[in-house]
Amino acid sequence: MDKIKVGLIGFGTVGTGVVRVLRENSSVIKDKLGCEVVLKRIADRDIIRKRETDVPGDILTTDVDSIINDPEIAIVIELIGGLEAAGDIIVKALKKGKHVVTANKALLSTRGKELFSLAGKEGCDVGFEASVGGGIPIIKALREGLAANRVESIYGIINGTANYILSKMTNEGGKFETVLKEAQKKGYAEADPTYDVEGMDTAHKLAILINLAYGTYISLESIYTEGITRITELDVRFAREFGYRIKLLAIAKREGRGTHPEVVSGEGKSIEARVHPTMIPLSHPLSSVEGVYNAIHINGNASGPVMFYGRGAGMMPTASAVVADIIDISRNILKGKGPRTTPLAYTEESLKDIKVKKIDDLEVPYYIRFSAKDLPGVLSKISGVLGSHNISISSVIQKGRQRGGTVPLVIITHNSLEREFRKSIEEIETLSVIAGKTMYIRIEENSGGADQ
Ligand code: HSE
Repeated sequence: MDKIKVGLIGFGTVGTGVVRVLRENSSVIKDKLGCEVVLKRIADRDIIRKRETDVPGDILTTDVDSIINDPEIAIVIELIGGLEAAGDIIVKALKKGKHVVTANKALLSTRGKELFSLAGKEGCDVGFEASVGGGIPIIKALREGLAANRVESIYGIINGTANYILSKMTNEGGKFETVLKEAQKKGYAEADPTYDVEGMDTAHKLAILINLAYGTYISLESIYTEGITRITELDVRFAREFGYRIKLLAIAKREGRGTHPEVVSGEGKSIEARVHPTMIPLSHPLSSVEGVYNAIHINGNASGPVMFYGRGAGMMPTASAVVADIIDISRNILKGKGPRTTPLAYTEESLKDIKVKKIDDLEVPYYIRFSAKDLPGVLSKISGVLGSHNISISSVIQKGRQRGGTVPLVIITHNSLEREFRKSIEEIETLSVIAGKTMYIRIEENSGGADQ
């Protein structure tokens, strides 16, 4: 075979990047593959708008089926995003025996099981490197580079928008809303930033990482998800004083370390899967991941900690991942073979249902910021309630002095059971010495760092 022909569906930012990478890097791709990759057709609803790169008019079409039904096209690249139409395209393409490359994390995190199993039935490959971490080759790393490991933990900064906002608030100050507006002006945040700032985008990507790391499909609903909209400048400043940074983290862990007697979910048989703002020690490598950059820190039981860092979004980094999948799949095609393994790189028979630990059963230290009246005896009232819920205090800071006025009172706890912790906050908020809503942030002290 002297050429591999591919069809692109979705000529947006990443699609344009794919055209550029295939064109600008054609000789290195040919040197690695031994043959040319030819982009035979591009389908998009809008074929008039000028893109950053020109393509011959005769390869543009609005007819998606002309790609799916073209017997010469071996690989269909789905880059339209969204759920329904993209899902239909992938199903149709697989049923036609086409290999598929997609960046669609929302789709794979909801219908991955169905689509991957269809791919298996049809003997087709599905490449999805671009779905998590943009230009960072994390899918390949989990499927291949770390294949020998039992994955103890994954900690990921996998949303550039949220990381940009938190970094800016930390380094330059500013309210969440102000920094978000500025990020939108600079093009780092979408006009509707809900998915990014409320943690859903991070949860989609975490679901895919968990699929790969643990050979299990978990539902998005089972991932506890909390965004960054409640974080204030005060919290960012207090975090620093206590030696932490606040990051929106995707966290997955093999369970088995819980010590609280009420945690009864079978030890070692469940995983933690959660997305929330997290305080991590300044010494952790993830704490210095700034701006729109992404990083994924994985602790393998044999490899020890490894960290992948790079651009998690953008035209060329994401296109780099898409084209890497095209090259990988083309290698199989050239060998005359089907996929070497399943999309998750676990055999079909070994895929399992794994229980996800409920957030109520989580045991972590907490940062708590009370808006408390500055009066004698306040601390003892608060600590009394915490103590009655078996929550032990590690340190306390009160800033400012406003006799009878309201001051931030910050407490760091030792490991506490979330269920009890929440009850204690509810109870404390009924005390007359509390003047406003309480803020709390979970802390990860031992996030699989180099000392683990
Ligand atoms: N919206 C995502 C982010 C990029 O801000 O990281 C695409 O996954």
